[in-house]
Amino acid sequence: MYKMGLLSSILLLIIIQICVAPPVTQKKEDEADITGLEDYMEYHRYLKEVVNALESDPDFRKKLEKADEHEIKSGKIAEELEFVSHHVRTRLDEIKRVEMERLKQLVEQKKKLEDPNNSVDEDPLHNHLDHSNPHTFEIEDLKKLIAKTTEDLAEADKLRKEEFKHYELEKEYKKMEKLNHTNGEEREKLEKQMKEMEEKHKKHERLHEPGHKAQLEEVWESQDQMQQDFDPKTFFLLHDIDGNGLWDQEEVKALFIKELDKMYQEGAPEDDMRERYEEMERMRESVYKDMDRNRDGFIDFDEFIYQTKTNEFNQDHGWQALDEQKPYTDEELAEYIKQHQANNNCHLP
Ligand SMILES: *[C@@H]1O[C@H](CO)[C@@H](O)[C@H](O)[C@H]1NC(C)=O
Ligand SMILES: *[C@@H]1O[C@H](CO)[C@@H](O)[C@H](O)[C@H]1NC(C)=O
Repeated sequence: MYKMGLLSSILLLIIIQICVAPPVTQKKEDEADITGLEDYMEYHRYLKEVVNALESDPDFRKKLEKADEHEIKSGKIAEELEFVSHHVRTRLDEIKRVEMERLKQLVEQKKKLEDPNNSVDEDPLHNHLDHSNPHTFEIEDLKKLIAKTTEDLAEADKLRKEEFKHYELEKEYKKMEKLNHTNGEEREKLEKQMKEMEEKHKKHERLHEPGHKAQLEEVWESQDQMQQDFDPKTFFLLHDIDGNGLWDQEEVKALFIKELDKMYQEGAPEDDMRERYEEMERMRESVYKDMDRNRDGFIDFDEFIYQTKTNEFNQDHGWQALDEQKPYTDEELAEYIKQHQANNNCHLP
């Protein structure tokens, strides 16, 4: 089976994530710095060029395809750089020179702005390349690039959760504010309305545990329209949309459509599509936790088959959805309200 170079897969994943990432919530002075993916992934053009150059070397490409995930993630693969053709090395040196130049301009731009709080760059160390050697692209450069890329994937999840928490805090605050602006009968009516919406949203078919047999079987039967018994091998191939032998995040998330439909209907006033998006990401994380045994960000065929042979796979503990838990604590909500009220008071004439 043809296996796409892992570096290109990782790169693809990043590009996909940038494209589908939800709009970043607006920054306010008093909040933790929540920056979009785009900001700290400015180097992705550089990453893409390095990967393209490396993959244009047939020997290196072969080695990348054969390398196991550990060799790639540990950065060991970078040592193969020594055997890359002179022509490709020259190309890499040039790519690095251009990137160094871009970073230099960034720093100058930042100085010109003279606003220390308006940071152009969230990663002042630019850890994705080796600065001690500004002229040529070496093993250390490739190692740093790989380390930074995998780190960013984890960072992306962390950021997403922070943004979601913020969204929910704001939502709750708005609700309370609205209530506070009413009183007497009107308030009771509004409270009743809100409660009804909440209950309507909570009323839904039970969700299956993501990535377990019962859930996948439902996809197999109703989405894939398969008549025969669930067959893990066929299922894996069916949902490896790009046929690269790996399930990436997008391919895994596509498995949850039916599950999510049980709880979130487009256009239903009681269902929040932002929450649907978060629910999908949470399901993806849960499946990765179970199946992505080598933690390389992909579920490969062997990992999937391994999982289907466990006892766990046949069980269905259901899914604790977002309607059963808040992403913030009571203390965090109280703090949020306090800060907003302090802010509002400052703006009073
Ligand atoms: C930058 O932030 C600090 C504290 O966060 C604040 O005291 C200072 O006034 C800010 N500077 C500018 C130029 O906004
Ligand atoms: C609503 O009013 C209560 C009581 O006055 C107050 O404690 C609370 O902070 C207010 N909430 C908001 C969001 O304005």
